[in-house]
Amino acid sequence: MRKYLIAGNWKMNLTVQEGKQFLIDIKDQINSFHNVEILVCPPYTHLDSLSRLAQGSNICIGSQDVSTESNGAYTGEISTDMLSELNCKYCIIGHSERRQYHQESDQLINKKLTKLLATNISPILCVGESLADRESDQTFDVIKRQLTNAFNSINKDTVNIQNLVIAYEPVWAIGTGKVATPFQGQEVHSFIRNLLKETLSDELADHIQILYGGSVNPANIEDLIKQEDIDGALIGGSSLKSDTFLSIIKSSSQVYELSKS
Ligand code: 13P
Repeated sequence: MRKYLIAGNWKMNLTVQEGKQFLIDIKDQINSFHNVEILVCPPYTHLDSLSRLAQGSNICIGSQDVSTESNGAYTGEISTDMLSELNCKYCIIGHSERRQYHQESDQLINKKLTKLLATNISPILCVGESLADRESDQTFDVIKRQLTNAFNSINKDTVNIQNLVIAYEPVWAIGTGKVATPFQGQEVHSFIRNLLKETLSDELADHIQILYGGSVNPANIEDLIKQEDIDGALIGGSSLKSDTFLSIIKSSSQVYELSKS
């Protein structure tokens, strides 16, 4: 059975000091949740101190983005080597906010994915439809297009492809309080898993974690994560307070134990 991954995407929130306090608050309370992988993706400025603080605990630290380039004259960019040096285990790419506010194309996201797969950093590739796409029955077409373009020249033999994580984040659910129903989530997640089967292999499709993101909170996590193809969550707002984040981790751990028995 795939392990759950509960990931916080802090976006542009919390100071370094607040971030450190958050980690201190959860660090000692999560040791019993070995069946859940825990990830925090803070702003770049926090990576060094939070990676140090997380050492020896089961909290991983990840980045919210990465450059397509290795080094050079790319003002404002951060490379995979720089992230590795700071012990980043994961890196989010293709988040809808990057697509929307920074005009990131599927082609650019494909380059980032290719770059990350050449390292030991696990890419968390985000896909998701807008409200207009959903209302015009384009959801599956959009998801298929985003994934197919992201996978351009990537196949089952690509080095480290087994590290890939997908996050389904319907744009209409992000920061709106309008969470996808467990049925809507499962429907898209199983569609994604089938696409992974076709594009990669049955084995990889079985192995790759598919996270749900968009208005996840302690009250809705259980029903989402009980779905067969939902393997965790990428959480924005509810990952900013240690007690709500902990509560989501705790519920996920309980659901995991129940589903095994
Ligand atoms: P919210 O949980 O705030 O809706 O954000 C989801 C998200 O964008 C995580 O990457």
